[in-house]
Amino acid sequence: MQFTNLFVSLLLTTAVVAKNKNGTSTKAVTDKSLCKEMASLTKLVALAANETKLADKTDNNATKIAEIQAKASDASTQLTTMESNATLVSTCAVISAAQKTEDDCEDISSMTKLVALAANETKLADKAKNNATKIAAYQAKASAAAIKLQALQANTTLTDACTSITSAKEAAKADKAATKAAAASSSSSAAAASTTSKSAAGMLNAQCGLAATIVMVGAGILML
Ligand SMILES: *[C@@H]1O[C@H](CO)[C@@H](O)[C@H](O)[C@H]1NC(C)=O
Ligand SMILES: *[C@@H]1O[C@H](CO)[C@@H](O)[C@H](O)[C@H]1NC(C)=O
Ligand SMILES: *[C@@H]1O[C@H](CO)[C@@H](O)[C@H](O)[C@H]1NC(C)=O
Ligand SMILES: *[C@@H]1O[C@H](CO)[C@@H](O)[C@H](O)[C@H]1NC(C)=O
Ligand SMILES: *[C@@H]1O[C@H](CO)[C@@H](O)[C@H](O)[C@H]1NC(C)=O
Ligand SMILES: *[C@@H]1O[C@H](CO)[C@@H](O)[C@H](O)[C@H]1NC(C)=O
Ligand SMILES: *[C@@H]1O[C@H](CO)[C@@H](O)[C@H](O)[C@H]1NC(C)=O
Repeated sequence: MQFTNLFVSLLLTTAVVAKNKNGTSTKAVTDKSLCKEMASLTKLVALAANETKLADKTDNNATKIAEIQAKASDASTQLTTMESNATLVSTCAVISAAQKTEDDCEDISSMTKLVALAANETKLADKAKNNATKIAAYQAKASAAAIKLQALQANTTLTDACTSITSAKEAAKADKAATKAAAASSSSSAAAASTTSKSAAGMLNAQCGLAATIVMVGAGILML
């Protein structure tokens, strides 16, 4: 549970709102946006360092190559500054792990559907409009997916996290619907229904936001 403190600080971090010269607020600067920026700076620096990729991306245009290299040089400086913040670096690692978990869950879900489709001749023929080439393509895709699926599903930490993420999302959806319903009819019974429909996950979402729940679930801190 060494991550617990990090999580608490992650959850309590209030977004720093950047102000432009006019004093009007612009986009909120969050850890998530900083991590995204770091990722894109890293990508730019890597691109500039890879001659093959650089030539490929620019159609070997020397002007464009020089432009990218100049930008990458600035990016590199900025990246060094950001990477010197160990808190930010570890927060980004947590966010990225949570994102990977969520992506894996989505892959499990879509691959499960594909495997089921390939196993159902009626459905498959229908979907492929009886085109044998298409049917064969679906089957080939499904058998490749089945192997990946098996590997992912062998990880019970992942499958448990997927279950939690799904219920957190459903609870958030239900809460949203209930809130909407309560607002539509201001009757006290609707408000009561909204309150009782709030599951543990829903309450958590109300406080921390779905993203934070997913981050926690992803790191195995919260098992609903
Ligand atoms: C400041 O406000 C002016 C007038 O609304 C606008 O033209 C200008 O783009 C703004 N500057 C910034 C940095 O947003
Ligand atoms: C450079 O990019 C190419 C293609 O985009 C890739 O195959 C290669 O592995 C990269 N080289 C390095 C050193 O990362
Ligand atoms: C190379 O890129 C520059 C800047 O984008 C462009 O102005 C120029 O026309 C390009 N040169 C060629 C040969 O495509
Ligand atoms: C390091 O990053 C964290 C998280 O984004 C931030 O709260 C903190 O202010 C940063 N520290 C410095 C010295 O910039
Ligand atoms: C196959 O798909 C059809 C139509 O989509 C459905 O009615 C049927 O129950 C499925 N069969 C099996 C074994 O799942
Ligand atoms: C079957 O699907 C393939 C691949 O999508 C396509 O090239 C072919 O024209 C289709 N055949 C018929 C009879 O529609
Ligand atoms: C299992 O899944 C969890 C959550 O996504 C991940 O942190 C872990 O690295 C995975 N373990 C293996 C062996 O892939």
